[in-house]
Amino acid sequence: MTRLKLGFVGAGAINSRLMPHFLVDDTAATVEVIGVCDPVLPRATAAAERFDNCKAYDSLDAMLADDRIDAVTIGSPIGLHYQQVRAALIAGKHVHVNKTMTITTDEADDLIELARSKSLVLLPSPGEMLRPHNRRIKELIDTGEIGQLSWAVCGAAFGNYHVAEPERQGHDATTNVDPTWYFKNPGGGPLYDLTVYSLHGLTGILGPVKRVTALSGTLVPQRSLNGATVDVDVHDNTVMLLDFGANKFALAYGTAAGNITPGVEFDFSGRYYGTDGEIIGLELNGEPFDYEGRTTARQAPDGGIHPNFGGNELILPHTTEGHWGLQELHVFEDIMQMVDWVRDGKASVVTAEHARHVIEIIELAYLAAETGQTQALRTQF
Ligand SMILES: NC(=O)c1ccc[n+]([C@@H]2O[C@H](COP(=O)([O-])OP(=O)(O)OC[C@H]3O[C@@H](n4cnc5c(N)ncnc54)[C@H](O)[C@@H]3O)[C@@H](O)[C@H]2O)c1
Repeated sequence: MTRLKLGFVGAGAINSRLMPHFLVDDTAATVEVIGVCDPVLPRATAAAERFDNCKAYDSLDAMLADDRIDAVTIGSPIGLHYQQVRAALIAGKHVHVNKTMTITTDEADDLIELARSKSLVLLPSPGEMLRPHNRRIKELIDTGEIGQLSWAVCGAAFGNYHVAEPERQGHDATTNVDPTWYFKNPGGGPLYDLTVYSLHGLTGILGPVKRVTALSGTLVPQRSLNGATVDVDVHDNTVMLLDFGANKFALAYGTAAGNITPGVEFDFSGRYYGTDGEIIGLELNGEPFDYEGRTTARQAPDGGIHPNFGGNELILPHTTEGHWGLQELHVFEDIMQMVDWVRDGKASVVTAEHARHVIEIIELAYLAAETGQTQALRTQF
């Protein structure tokens, strides 16, 4: 079969880290990158120069007009995702979109229906249930290894991560990528950017949430970004309570600072407590539990101790050795899930319906915080 022809939407931090994966032999044999668009044209041009026969565009519409493009991967600010996914689907392109796919559940409904009606693949990150440890945690809980699940906790803190990213510290088009949008509506804040990973893992393991309530606000009202003072108009400090039914609960956080595991910047993996035991990170009752690929993960420089990074990134389905020294392996994996689905008709466990459910949790958590009323979810996956 001919190679899938891919276009990158955005040439900022994530996409510049992902592009080298498409120069590795096994990936280059199945995917050809032929377009990059970014309103900062020199940034798109610098990115396109990494590939043979790849064109730079200063707008998505211009790139979508290229009939040769089969699919796009969207790595633009989150507040743009809904309109961009929509435009790409209308243009007949398959879509991988970074988290979070949309801001609202209604928008997600619209995209799912549009993709279905046009028989196109729509695959949103993050594919947390591709991770072997998450699949194993689900199995351990489902088979009663910790007795009856009582509650769980997961989340992530914003910290200074996006302010400090290397792609934002310089003075040319590839190194002066502006992070302001992470602190603005729509789409900024730690829930849509980070807690989304935790919620995908949590719901992938425990199933859909029935009700949500939350407290939420802005802890740090101004940020200093590359010498400029930016007003933060998103909530950067949210704690939510989730009801899975049958009196099983979880706490999920997206805070300005502070994680439940000491020394860990992002604590995406959950902690699960049951009547006969607990799972914390990669340990069951204080002992490491086994899962597919664990031996390989343990041989990595970090010892495979972080559930979501280091060695545990090396054991995803497409992260062969040629990719090990590169960045953002989990996002690369999500793109390849779309590629396989398009090329081979191989449906992924990563679905737009799951992403919609997580989006509804976030949307209703904000509504619950605003109204003081617990909210009932309408979506399943
Ligand atoms: N930064 C990370 O560590 C990281 C990791 C994983 C996923 N992501 C996700 O990737 C996405 C992008 O994040 P980022 O950190 O790369 O953002 P970024 O700010 O670094 O880059 C965004 C790029 O999109 C461009 N852009 C703006 N408007 C556009 C438009 N209309 N069309 C095309 N491009 C446009 C910007 O010029 C910029 O180059 C988000 O969904 C984010 O959650 C980011």
